[in-house]
Amino acid sequence: MSAAPLSPATARAHSNIALIKYWGKRDAALNLPAVGSISITLDALYTDTRVGFHAGIDRDSVDIGGRKVDAAPFTRFLDLIRARAGIEHRARVESWNNFPTGAGLASSASGYAALALAACRAAGLDTNARELSMLARQGSGSAARSIFGGLVEMHRGESASGEDAYAEPLLGPADWPLGVVVAITDRNAKRVNSTAGMTGLAERSDYYDAWVARAPRDLADMRNAIAARDFETVGALTEMSCLKLHGLMLSTRPGLLYWNAATVAAMHAVRELREAGTPVYFTIDAGPQVKAICAPEHTGEVARVVANVPGVLDTRVSGLGPDAHLLD
Ligand code: DP6
Repeated sequence: MSAAPLSPATARAHSNIALIKYWGKRDAALNLPAVGSISITLDALYTDTRVGFHAGIDRDSVDIGGRKVDAAPFTRFLDLIRARAGIEHRARVESWNNFPTGAGLASSASGYAALALAACRAAGLDTNARELSMLARQGSGSAARSIFGGLVEMHRGESASGEDAYAEPLLGPADWPLGVVVAITDRNAKRVNSTAGMTGLAERSDYYDAWVARAPRDLADMRNAIAARDFETVGALTEMSCLKLHGLMLSTRPGLLYWNAATVAAMHAVRELREAGTPVYFTIDAGPQVKAICAPEHTGEVARVVANVPGVLDTRVSGLGPDAHLLD
């Protein structure tokens, strides 16, 4: 990393959804995941973030979608960047999502990835992609993956300092085009956010040790299926990891139930479509939205079917997105 003069910078990072899920932390302070994960980056959902470090202001300010939000969690993150750059300046951060914030569409992933890139550049740091991934991870675990486009693997790492807990690309977006249909079943922010849902899991779920122990095999199976471009195995592993995650969530004290009636109806609709011959598989994160994964040529048909499910309010269709990048 090398220092350069300070001027504001704007970055775009795309949201991602995990095929093999991350849930649980081996170190809460450094936000080190207990398990690795594999995701796809989405071109249709992204965050643009502009950061400027200024000498004349006495506190950080953060606007999301034109509204001022509590800057405290972002100050903690910006402090990491100020420490590396050797600067004291406070920052003005402005961020826009092109999709609803905090409703299970991974705004923290694209948000922290865009913030990491824009803030490093604005602080005059020449940070490489691996370092950006580790920084973004400290904002949100899934954000480490949004530094990269296409298909991405996040490594759990073993080191206590987190130097081996970063994401890496497996395939670029053009190497194996995939489609995603997002079915929105609730526009409101989720009730229990991921960080709260994962806190103290070892004590709160009897299934947690089994979840962590099996993860390396699930990741290896997914890596192999991706390398072979074996969509049916990728899809089957994706549904398995999703259902296992939600089994873990349901087993937590108190139980975490993120699904509503439309979530379940959309899951059945995806399976019925598959039984009728269209290769499509679902996944669901810490929220009620259903994401259906299929070949790009099937997204139109999948979107029509899930849009007709009672309780589905809206659908978004996406392909695979690019690396996080600077806009100016
Ligand atoms: C269910 O990355 O939002 O979406 O690290 O606490 O910010 P924090 O959690 P976050 O959790 C994502 C959980 C998930 C699965 C996944 O994206 O792998």
